[in-house]
Amino acid sequence: MFNRRPEWRADNQPRRVTITLDGMAVEAFEGDSVAAALLSANPVFTRRSPVSGAPRAPYCMMGICFECLVEIDGVPNRQACMIPVRDGMAVKRQVPPPAVNAPAESAHES
Ligand code: FES
Repeated sequence: MFNRRPEWRADNQPRRVTITLDGMAVEAFEGDSVAAALLSANPVFTRRSPVSGAPRAPYCMMGICFECLVEIDGVPNRQACMIPVRDGMAVKRQVPPPAVNAPAESAHES
């Protein structure tokens, strides 16, 4: 879906690194943001809406929209577009806690 710009030359590439997304290996280049690396993952989403559960993906790529929130090395709510990849980084998509999606009636039952 996404490609490197044409001036990206094979003889001038930064070092390759490997991160994991939910345990799956994702290749990236040193200097890429986590969000840029995750845009090559399939399916492309970083979190689910806590209201509807709909998948969300990086949008602005500059720290404004917060659509790219992920868990990085066990720390939740990190903006993937603002953090450079590091070899061995463990990234997890964020899913809402089950209680947020529970019907309103069940919240008053117990
Ligand atoms: S993509 Fe908008 S804040 Fe990260």
